[in-house]
Amino acid sequence: MEFQDLLCQRRSIYSIEAELPISCQRLTELIRTSLCQCPSAFNSQSGRIMLLIGTEHRKLWQMILDMVAPLTPASQLSKTQDKISSYAAGFGTILFFNDSQVTRELQDRFPLYKDNFSVWAEHSQGMLQFIVWSSLAENGIGASLQHYNPLIDTQLKQEFAIPDSWQLSAQMPFGKIVDKADPKTFIPVAERFKFSGCEQ
Ligand SMILES: Cc1cc2nc3c(=O)[nH]c(=O)nc-3n(C[C@H](O)[C@H](O)[C@H](O)COP(=O)(O)O)c2cc1C
Repeated sequence: MEFQDLLCQRRSIYSIEAELPISCQRLTELIRTSLCQCPSAFNSQSGRIMLLIGTEHRKLWQMILDMVAPLTPASQLSKTQDKISSYAAGFGTILFFNDSQVTRELQDRFPLYKDNFSVWAEHSQGMLQFIVWSSLAENGIGASLQHYNPLIDTQLKQEFAIPDSWQLSAQMPFGKIVDKADPKTFIPVAERFKFSGCEQ
């Protein structure tokens, strides 16, 4: 697939089920390559991933439901339950983290850039999420990006033995695509893009 076509194919897919068009081994290869090839400031490689599939994936979403439900107004509860069930219906979830230890070490080594390192770690994290999301899309796998952090951080670390320095950034439930995404709307690109100096 052409890269520009892949950009259009990657969408937030919410209607997913617990199957995959590729093997688990291929899935883990995609994630390993994404982790290795993702750009990062000073090649610091601060992004971390935990992949949960099957029962572990369902345990995650049950844990999230148990934490979110008591905080949800009664009028919203059934909508929230449906949303969380739709993520649980997928094949797995990719958990994205930044390793704060990496940022701390860089801050000590390069005091001149001290204030930049956490920002750059977030930039790299966004790239990592995009690379993984696009790699899934290229292989016909639907995914969306969710943020139940920081609410779930402490319990997640306990339940899934996550190292202390890993800071949760996002949760990406994925699976076989049941329904495609609705067409996307765009604000006029002319409002977002200026250019000068090149031939037309
Ligand atoms: C930083 C960031 C945070 C997002 N957070 C959420 C989220 O919490 N829940 C969600 O359903 N989608 C989330 N999204 C997905 C966006 O809503 C989605 O990318 C956008 O509406 C464009 O749709 P598309 O992904 O189909 O192109 C997030 C996307 C980004 C880049």
